[in-house]
Amino acid sequence: MTHQTLLLGPTLLFTGTPMTAAWEDCIQITADGGILMEGGMIVDVGQGDVLTRNHPAAQRVSYGADHLICPGFVDAHVHYPQTAIIASWGKRLIDWLNTYTFPEEMRLSDPAYATMIANRYLDLTRAAGTTTVASYCTVHAHSADALFQAAAQRNQRVVAGKTCMDRNAPEGLRDTAQSAYDDSKALIALWHGKGRASYAITPRFSPTSTPDQLAALGALWAEHPDCLMQTHLSEQTDEIAWVRDLYPTARDYLDTYEAHGLIGERALFGHAIHLENREIDRIAETGAAVVHCPTSNTFIGSGLFDLAGLRARQIPIGLATDTGGGSSFSMLRTMAAAYEIGQLRGTALHAAELMWLATAGSARSLHLQDKIGQLKSGFEADITVLNLASTPAIAQRVQKAENPWDSLFATIMMGDDRAIADVWIAGAQQGKLPPAP
Ligand code: GUN
Ligand code: ZN
Repeated sequence: MTHQTLLLGPTLLFTGTPMTAAWEDCIQITADGGILMEGGMIVDVGQGDVLTRNHPAAQRVSYGADHLICPGFVDAHVHYPQTAIIASWGKRLIDWLNTYTFPEEMRLSDPAYATMIANRYLDLTRAAGTTTVASYCTVHAHSADALFQAAAQRNQRVVAGKTCMDRNAPEGLRDTAQSAYDDSKALIALWHGKGRASYAITPRFSPTSTPDQLAALGALWAEHPDCLMQTHLSEQTDEIAWVRDLYPTARDYLDTYEAHGLIGERALFGHAIHLENREIDRIAETGAAVVHCPTSNTFIGSGLFDLAGLRARQIPIGLATDTGGGSSFSMLRTMAAAYEIGQLRGTALHAAELMWLATAGSARSLHLQDKIGQLKSGFEADITVLNLASTPAIAQRVQKAENPWDSLFATIMMGDDRAIADVWIAGAQQGKLPPAP
């Protein structure tokens, strides 16, 4: 008989999406829940006692009443090469890129360094409860190999792409229109759909690509329409003014992508803060997704993402750390920042909505909504177990909690990697997680 594992404890379950319905109608906490896993998949979900009775041979792992069994966190926009320069002081976007980011990305010209950083990144994010990331790599094709390989060794689902830049970046970090096309195509052949990997065609952003490069990548995407295409859009006002200078005939920032075949259902636009009405209309019409990067948007001083406005247009929204522009590897801290930005814009996001964004919502933005992001039969068994009383400060707040959502909200606002009690990736328990090298 095949090996089954049964997780017992409070479970966070989704029956619908809070994009189109009230959260109360689609998100629940089951106090005495159970999740049955087999062969890396979730094969049954329900009441713990019923599952225990029906599957007496399953290995049982019980978590206490002050825990919550959740889908693993899905971080929809990150830069793993920026791990070592996270929390660098004092710059806004373009200066931050030139001062901190590009010199560090240059160091990944050494494949051994790229492999070390890729593993460090996956260690740090797994310790924070994240089981899937969608990452930019550097311009070097081997930096994408490094992340795909590190993720494959952990049997971890990952989305990534070689970053393409053929101007406004230092010597050593530039490719060309042709080499970006060739290298990305070769990486797609190597990695896209291999195991749990998928490829995202990755022009960094319009300022670092010539129109020729954007056109080459648009052509590549047309040849591989099942790949994602990830890039940055309208993050800072100075950046938008620069795009206007670089692309004088474009109607707006989005048009620099649109004119080169870089818009569509599988497009992922990071940040998307200072959007014009036409841009919002086009994103909504095409079904493209946007990614909210709240700790980055406050840290680099970019602005306040309009989650409520974009959600009202039914635009898929992912949630992301944007490390190292973001200031934390933790999706808990990222949910807290999303809550704070919501408050500044007049919308108090509920704990249930925040958790949905960090799991199923991000999975939807990556078109992985049928595979990850939910505790549901037929889904891959990527699971994070939260301890909802992980520090004295949180534990004393939980004593006053009136319901499970109150308890969860305290961990969202105040929790960190101490709140991650356990992580399962494709049904394999990760155990107590090793510190990064
Ligand atoms: N825009 C272009 N590149 C980057 C990057 O690496 N981080 C952020 N936050 N914005 C960008
Ligand atoms: Zn980014």
